[in-house]
Amino acid sequence: MEKTIIIANWKMNPCTFLDAQALISEILFGTKDTKTVNVVFCPPFVYLQGLIKKYPKAVFGAQDCFWEQQGAFTGEVSPQMLKAMGCAYVILGHSERAKYLGETEDMVQKKVAAALVAGLEVILCVGEKEETPKDMPGLLVVYEPEWAISTEGKGAADTKLVASRVAAMRRTLKTSPILYGGSVTSSNIASLIKETGVQGALVGSASLDACEFFNLVKNAAA
Ligand code: PGA
Repeated sequence: MEKTIIIANWKMNPCTFLDAQALISEILFGTKDTKTVNVVFCPPFVYLQGLIKKYPKAVFGAQDCFWEQQGAFTGEVSPQMLKAMGCAYVILGHSERAKYLGETEDMVQKKVAAALVAGLEVILCVGEKEETPKDMPGLLVVYEPEWAISTEGKGAADTKLVASRVAAMRRTLKTSPILYGGSVTSSNIASLIKETGVQGALVGSASLDACEFFNLVKNAAA
């Protein structure tokens, strides 16, 4: 059986490296006996290198990358740099990047291609309108309706809706894992996994509270 995948998307949190270290230490301690779940930590870029060095057994991802591997692109970080640093994954196409930074579908597609070439696993977020992507080695697809993200205050999508969306996506996607994202907590993760056909979840705010997050990981394994 494939392991359940839980991705901790810390977004632009916490405010210091010391807090990031404290959070990850507590989570790793709390989840050390949970063997059937793969946890991927996606902290802000600036903490990645330090955390990778300090926690070599943990699995890390970035929250974005650029579509070129090197060059005159001020402020950008390339997939090759992330791979060389020890990152295994990258989140791409998150709706917050479209909403606040104007990231387009075309940019996301170029990023996906570059990240896969660099050998990163791509956690590709798709909302409600986008076409289902095609299977590609190294691709994981997240069904994450923008309105279900916890900051919107509407709560997680109903499991029936998630199940029907996953079934529709499965007509195109035969092998790539499909995850769900949007207000996932320790209370709803078990039913999401049991009732919808997803292989895991992308977790934002619940991944910033160590106790809540390790309970979520334990419940994903139950
Ligand atoms: P949330 O965020 O779990 O806080 O809803 C999920 C995400 O946007 O990745």
